[in-house]
Amino acid sequence: MDAEQARRRHQRLAAELHRHNHLYHVLDAPEISDAEYDALFRELLELETAFPELATEDSPSRRVGGAPLDAFRQARHALPMLSLDNARHQEDERDFADIREFDARIRRLLETDEPVDYLCELKLDGVAVELTYEAGRLSIGTTRGDGQTGEEITANLRTIGSIPLVLQPPCPEVLDVRGEVYIELEDFRRFNRQLEENGEPVFANPRNAAAGSLRQLDPKQTAKRPLRIFCYGIGRLDGAEVATQQQLLERMRAWGLRTNLEQTRLARGVDEVIACYRHWLGRRDHLPYEIDGVVVKVNRLDLQRRLGATTRAPRWAIAMKFPP
Ligand code: IVH
Repeated sequence: MDAEQARRRHQRLAAELHRHNHLYHVLDAPEISDAEYDALFRELLELETAFPELATEDSPSRRVGGAPLDAFRQARHALPMLSLDNARHQEDERDFADIREFDARIRRLLETDEPVDYLCELKLDGVAVELTYEAGRLSIGTTRGDGQTGEEITANLRTIGSIPLVLQPPCPEVLDVRGEVYIELEDFRRFNRQLEENGEPVFANPRNAAAGSLRQLDPKQTAKRPLRIFCYGIGRLDGAEVATQQQLLERMRAWGLRTNLEQTRLARGVDEVIACYRHWLGRRDHLPYEIDGVVVKVNRLDLQRRLGATTRAPRWAIAMKFPP
């Protein structure tokens, strides 16, 4: 095989492996067996051994690479990662006063008596991260940190199967994706059992386990942890037009990102928001991961822009927290 044939075969294999990775980790719908995947992966590795120039940054072989770090570098977010205000659980004579006040303020600011459309998303209890894609390639991944500056943990994030190394075209020129890295309850129990068997200290809860896993200086350790991501928001977005939060989640999915669209509901007005909150309050124990509430977002992005943000949190979103 000459270099040109190798390059073409490698390109085909890499595309196939990216596709199967996406089917398995993002869509939960694998088309081939693990053994078939491994065979494709082995062929890719053999090609890269014979032609090392083929092992580029975004090759499926490069999820776990590089030597352990001494420390994490600080990295500034292009746009601040804001926090959320909370609406308390008030299922009594106050009749959810906080969320009703949130809705009233929004309608006052927008000068409307019409019900506002809100997108209700699950509030996952994990670790907030940002992924930057330039020309469709994952260039840097960071923790939220203080919202202005986080820690650069790209090498660790690259080991997470549900984080694409390359987006599916057509994709934006620049995209900052925000999401929550988390561990499912069953994975967490299995992982803690393993730690116990090895005589190592166990984690108190899945959130701590996810945070600890992302803070490993050796990406090979992170790669062994059962981490997943759900993407729910953006920072910069250059080169794509999106009208609503719901459309944004749909577009993110089309770019190959893992979103929680199935568990997301569009609510017309505050009463439907409260109904949605009650629905999840009753069903939280049936989910495979821990949630600590419902995040309510004004669906139209033009209205989000009109409402703006304080230095701490957007005016167009709020977290309805479950009682502890
Ligand atoms: S939106 C500007 N959506 O909750 C909007 N956050 O208390 C900011 N979180 O730091 C966040 N699920 O770590 C948003 N569907 C979701 C979320 C979510 C979990 C976390 C996130 C954020 C924290 C705010």
